[in-house]
Amino acid sequence: MKIAVLISGRGSNLKAIIKGIKSGKIKAKIPLVISNKKDAKGLDIAKKYNIPARFIDPAPYKNREDYDKVLIKELEKIDPDLVVLAGYMRILTDPFIEAFENRLINIHPSLIPSFQGLKAQKQALDYGAKFTGCTVHYVTKDLDNGPIIIQAVVPILPNDTEKTLSERILSYEHRIYPQAIKWISEGRILIKNRHVIVKNAEYGTLPVNPKLEDF
Ligand code: GRF
Repeated sequence: MKIAVLISGRGSNLKAIIKGIKSGKIKAKIPLVISNKKDAKGLDIAKKYNIPARFIDPAPYKNREDYDKVLIKELEKIDPDLVVLAGYMRILTDPFIEAFENRLINIHPSLIPSFQGLKAQKQALDYGAKFTGCTVHYVTKDLDNGPIIIQAVVPILPNDTEKTLSERILSYEHRIYPQAIKWISEGRILIKNRHVIVKNAEYGTLPVNPKLEDF
């Protein structure tokens, strides 16, 4: 399986996915990482692991459609089986989402449909929620709201700050994202409208549902 990864920043999820591949758990290759930010730390992570990594500057393009056209072209060259958004901080245009329909996934740091959009961890904290979490989902035109593959529940503690809560959530992101990608690579995903079923997975477990198998 060929995976392309889009990033904008730190790249810790990218690193977790690379490690999943390196360890032999995920049978896949990453032929391309693209960042829309020049100084994204994730570009250095990719280079460290000899993964082709490119900064594609949005500045010369007059709108999001034109930029996304370039991304589509670059991605089509490698013909990815899966396009993984890992902290990619730009809203994708409809033609991009259509080009990679059913092979485009994202991770969001909340239990969607709660706390969609930016700063999801802070939203949950400010709301006074007692649980939040993270979600791996297919990307549809409905922002942060596509069919859900896997979710992890994370408690919110009285003394939490945005930082402590984000770290607690992130430790689960680094497990559920590689797990979801592994399931996709194994052809175990069935999608029916909004409903995703992972074949032979164990459902009904806490804090992660369906149950983690490898991470
Ligand atoms: C993560 O919290 C992810 O859920 C969100 O953006 C952050 C990216 O972190 N979409 P990293 O770049 O993978 O470290």
